[in-house]
This record gives sequence, C-alpha cells and structure tokens, in this order.
Amino acid sequence: MRYFEHNSSLNVNDITISFTDQGPDNAPTIIFIHGFPLNKTMWDKQVELLKTDFRVITYDIRGHGESDAGNDPFSIDLLVSDLIGFMNVLEIDKASICGLSMGGYIALNAIENYPERFEAMVLCDTNCISDPHEVKEKRMATVENIIKEGVDKYAIASIPNLFAPESLKLKVTEVASVKNMILNTSELVLCSTLLALASRQETCSKLTDINIPVLILVGDKDIITPPAAAKNMHDKIENSTLEVIEHAGHLSNLENPELFNHHLIKFFELVFKDYLINRQKADHSILKEIRNKLSMLLAFRSI
Ligand code: MLT
Repeated sequence: MRYFEHNSSLNVNDITISFTDQGPDNAPTIIFIHGFPLNKTMWDKQVELLKTDFRVITYDIRGHGESDAGNDPFSIDLLVSDLIGFMNVLEIDKASICGLSMGGYIALNAIENYPERFEAMVLCDTNCISDPHEVKEKRMATVENIIKEGVDKYAIASIPNLFAPESLKLKVTEVASVKNMILNTSELVLCSTLLALASRQETCSKLTDINIPVLILVGDKDIITPPAAAKNMHDKIENSTLEVIEHAGHLSNLENPELFNHHLIKFFELVFKDYLINRQKADHSILKEIRNKLSMLLAFRSI
C-alpha cells in the first residue's frame, strides 16, 4: 500500500508538481485530471471510492493548487507534456485517465499523441471541439476583466455557470469549496490558462482512432460542455459508454457524487475484471494460509 494522502511533489519540465498517490502497489493506475481553475482536491470522493482496489493518483496542473506555474506560456500541449513527464518520473508505463472539462481536453490530446500510454479513459463534462470564434472572444473579454477587476469578481461571476441551479441552493459546501479553489488561483495563471483553452486544437477528428474503453459522463444541466457535446463524442468513439448525471451541471462529480461514482466504479470493475478476480483469489489464499497456520498453532497448544 502507498500512503501519500497528503501532498507529495516531484519535478517535471522544470516545475514542481504536487500530487497524491494512494492504493495497492501493482494495482492498475488511474490518474485524475482536474478542471479549470480548480485543483486535485475536487476528486476526493472518487479517490476514497477507488483507492481500495486501484492505485489512484491526483495532481495539480501547473499553476493550480500547489503546483508551480513555471515561466512558459501555457498551452494544452505543455500540460500534456507535464502529464507524460509526470508518468515517466513515477515510472508508470500505462494508466487509465479521468479528466473533467480542461482535464478532458488534456486527456483527449494525450490519447491522440501518446496512445500507447493509456488503457482506459473517462471523459467528464468535456468536449472535443476547439473554441468557436465567439467563445474565443468571450475568453479574451474575461482576461481583460480579470486584469481590471481581480479574481474575486471572476469567482463570483463563474460559479453560476459551473453548477446546476439546484446545486447552487443545495450543495453549499461544494460551492464554497470551488469558490475557494478559484480564489486561490493567481490572476496570471487564470489568464494564461484561458489563453491556452482558447488556442487548443480540436480532437474530434481523431476520436475514431481511439480503441480503448471510454466512459463519457455529463451533467444533465451542464451549460459549458452540454450533453449534446458528450453525445457527439460517444457517436465517434466506438468502444464508449455515455451516462448522463442527473441533478448536475458542469461539475457532475461534485454535484451528484453518488450517481457519478456508481458509473465510475462499474466502468473500472468491468475494464479490470480479470485483475480484480485474480486479486480476490490471492486474498482468499492468503486468508486460507492464515487460517491453517492458526489452527496448527491452536492444535499445538492443546497438546
Ligand atoms: C473547465 O471546467 O475546465 C472549463 O470550464 C473549461 C472551459 O472553459 O472550456
């Protein structure tokens, strides 16, 4: 078992990346990639669920959470290079990845360029298109507003787009925690990441090449990457399953973790069925061995 419950860090591409790494040694590895402008703690409920059977890794994308921003201009290609460098330092040849929104853009770009490094993928509330002209313009206006008005105003303005209206009322803790994550991101990182998002390449034309199992999850009230975008990816990826998460907007894992986790565990249990059966058999034989030793000891004592 590995237990880096608290932040660990390593160096990649001249920056320090903060990460957690939990679960049994030699188990299949699942790497979680957070959305913009959040951090690795958004996956806490998914880590809790999966860490008994899988090696589960979360990390902060450069500039977010506790990772360094570095000096290079941000781009999705750079964030993918960080991911691959991170896997190399941890000596992970192959992993499953689960990315939400910006995390999904990174996952899709990574699969396109390094298909041999991945064995399953979960795409949550994300899209394969590049930004249409009007979205690019909106991002530029947001950059100007952040520079003029600061992060506080940006956080207040972006929350209603991230959550479904019902979550804004009912998920008070989650809303407050997301607001804090945004407030803890610097102006420079917010602007640099917005430019990276605006200049990303489309990945839709490469979806038919994907030949690993893919689960696509989307909040039924996601207005940033709506269910139609998820359906479009599902139609193009042959080995994919689409599940709509009710009572959720763009942050479906935080807004309806019960349903999100139900689909997530079902997917990984199916993908890694053989591993889990063998692990169960190994556990049974260890237990049998312990029972045998115990009864021998008891028999010896009663002589
Ligand atoms: C995210 O959640 O990562 C962002 O909403 C992505 C985007 O703005 O395209």
